[in-house]
Amino acid sequence: MPLTRRTLIAASLSITFALAPLTSVFAASPAPAKGEHGMVVTAQHLASEVGIEVLKKGGNAVDAAVAVGYALAVVYPNAGNIGGGGFMTIRFKDGKSTFLDFRERAPLAATKTMYLDKDGKPVKGASLDGYLAVGVPGSVAGLEMAREKYGKLSRQDLMAPAIGYAREGFILNQGDAASFAGSADRLAKDPAAAAIFLKPDGKPYGIGERLVQPDLAASLAAISERGTDAFYKGAIADAIVKASGAKGGILAKPDFEQYAVRELKPVTCTYRGYEITSSPPPSSGGVIICEILNVLEGYPLSYLGAGSAETVHVMVEAMRYAYVDRNSALGDPDFVVNPVSKLLDKAYARDIRDKIDPFRAGVSQDLMPKGFGESKETTHYSIIDDEGNAVAVTYTLNGSFGAGVVADGTGILLNNEMDDFTQKPGVPNLYGLVQGEANAIQPKKTPLSSMSPTVVAKDGKPFMVIGSPGGSRIITITLEAIVNVIDHGMNIQEAIDAPRIHHQWLPDKVYVEPFGLSPDTEKLLAGMGYHLDLADQTWGQAAGILVGGKSLAEIEKGGGARYNGAIDSRAASGEALGY
Ligand code: DON
Repeated sequence: MPLTRRTLIAASLSITFALAPLTSVFAASPAPAKGEHGMVVTAQHLASEVGIEVLKKGGNAVDAAVAVGYALAVVYPNAGNIGGGGFMTIRFKDGKSTFLDFRERAPLAATKTMYLDKDGKPVKGASLDGYLAVGVPGSVAGLEMAREKYGKLSRQDLMAPAIGYAREGFILNQGDAASFAGSADRLAKDPAAAAIFLKPDGKPYGIGERLVQPDLAASLAAISERGTDAFYKGAIADAIVKASGAKGGILAKPDFEQYAVRELKPVTCTYRGYEITSSPPPSSGGVIICEILNVLEGYPLSYLGAGSAETVHVMVEAMRYAYVDRNSALGDPDFVVNPVSKLLDKAYARDIRDKIDPFRAGVSQDLMPKGFGESKETTHYSIIDDEGNAVAVTYTLNGSFGAGVVADGTGILLNNEMDDFTQKPGVPNLYGLVQGEANAIQPKKTPLSSMSPTVVAKDGKPFMVIGSPGGSRIITITLEAIVNVIDHGMNIQEAIDAPRIHHQWLPDKVYVEPFGLSPDTEKLLAGMGYHLDLADQTWGQAAGILVGGKSLAEIEKGGGARYNGAIDSRAASGEALGY
């Protein structure tokens, strides 16, 4: 069906539904932070301060990102890490870009069926709790490669604040304390983790109390002195391997010795004249954001309005088609051939649009893949410097506090990233993702991720830096922030705070944030055949920057702040800081 007809139908639907295009219902957001020389937005206020200080001292955005990465490992231990992995998207001031993949890899002894019992059924918790869930960590190698290749300052300078916060401790605010309280039972199961994160009486640290991490300080100091070898070839790897062997894990010294960061070409696409630069496989994020944007480009979202039934309809359908592709076709590029150019093709998006019924919900079971979902902690931070270098980093332990284990003496929480693999085709993971063979477990393979650190540019200049935690929802959270700015005219804070929807093909339901849609809109969508889930509360905390003004309108008018930063109002301890 040609676009014109579709547009007409959409327009007539708007009139029939008597909805109000160009307006939407969402709570007022605080004003974005402003800066003229730099902006750092992270999920923990002390880490934001560390990043800003690096910029003020003459470091570039990559230096700030490295210092923030280490700082979050101390002051945001539920997700910040050196025992996990992540991605860094960099768009340099000259318009070139690159991508560092420092995500975890499966241990050499990993097998396809390692989380199944003798009857082929998944063993509950095996890919989530304890040492068997741990992938070989990549954060230290990734941060160090970023610094060496693209930073200006010394490792010692960039790591000093993190070492200070670990050694001297920091005072917990409400958001910090909440994250510990939520995971106390889990942390209590590992004596080494409990000794750090719980008080001697077994209770979590509360608001106003000081968390001191001397073992982590010593590990960080060793890395600061000796570089990556201190982690991958020395006492730290030895301690993790020893604990793993003693407690049911399979990590071995060669896993650490052979770990290597991959520098990859980011995924790029255009959306209404904006250039998107985001994560390539082994992340699904950039490809799937681009696929959804390509589909949405054919609909007049701005006219249809934020949160209208028609906008939700076309967004959900675009998500449904893109997540089938995500879950069936994508995996680690060293192991599977990813059909990236096909998924990014605008003609492929047009074919998808042609299959979307303008009046009815699609049915996921009808879209079974040509070949064949994630607790809840990751963190994203966005940084831009005075020269216009933009850095977006998303890194994670996967679940909150990862596998919940710390090898004695290291102070380092280890990830449970192995759960991102397909344990068995058709069996959902922590985030409900039903995945296939392309993401099966193999030695040294990286599990497919949804992390989507993204930089958007316009006319060759940086426009937006954005990303989020949120498991399988990272992709749609990041996408919706972009659409909210470009199509709906929201300022960067509103775009991040606005209520969200999410669909991931299976389960076949639309997740809607509480109060995200009006009751009339919910009824319209139900009438089209949608199953709405209004109860599920797992939404990530995005961190974004807009350049040239706080919104498109302000950019067009001129006179806005150069850098406008926003931390999600859902984030309890984060901060956007400009200078
Ligand atoms: O890489 C991924 O897609 C997941 N391990 C991310 C986990 C996550 O975002 C949890 N936090 N909310």
